[in-house]
Amino acid sequence: MTIRITLIAAACALSLAACGDRTPPPDTNTTAPAATPAEPAPTEPATTEPAPAEPAPAETTAPADTTAAATGTATPAGPAPAATAAADKPAATVSNCATEIEGNDAIQYNVGSIVVPASCSKFTITLRHVGKLPVVAMGHNVVIARTADVQAVAADGTAAGAAANYVKAGDARIIAHTQMIGGGQSTSVTFDASKLKAGGPYTFFCSFPGHVVTMKGTIGIG
Ligand code: CO
Repeated sequence: MTIRITLIAAACALSLAACGDRTPPPDTNTTAPAATPAEPAPTEPATTEPAPAEPAPAETTAPADTTAAATGTATPAGPAPAATAAADKPAATVSNCATEIEGNDAIQYNVGSIVVPASCSKFTITLRHVGKLPVVAMGHNVVIARTADVQAVAADGTAAGAAANYVKAGDARIIAHTQMIGGGQSTSVTFDASKLKAGGPYTFFCSFPGHVVTMKGTIGIG
């Protein structure tokens, strides 16, 4: 008996965690966790900041992190998010070689693509601004150009300024474009559909400064 007790006592002495129910657990739970987060913080400021930030607001900030990630991706690859957004939108309803699309105060068109029937020689696009903001603040138009030229055409449009409705005069890269309008207004443009038969793919977009990021979609002969 005595020997067994001694052995058990010895075993306990060697492994306090197993026998010392009171002391080991509390210390471990209380000290270990606190010490772990605290140590990294002062040691690696840059690396530690993200770590504590995520755990704490994890549940609450989960969406924020996702947004941040998306934003980060959006910056380097501007076209990517816009393309995705456009892909999530429906195709424009076309009838009699014409379509009407909308632009709103949230810098969005209501459609992501326009399919021009192969049988159409002329095609008309009517843009209706369903928002309320004035053209100076939330101007919208529809500019059609080769997808590869969109960024350059948009940049030149921005450079052209408000007086030029953000469209470079005589820009040969532009297939067609409407006037720039504000909330409550409508405008339309009719163009030769054959211009979309070669050299594509083509994109329609708003040339108001910055709007090309979210206001763009595909257009082509279907
Ligand atoms: Co716009």
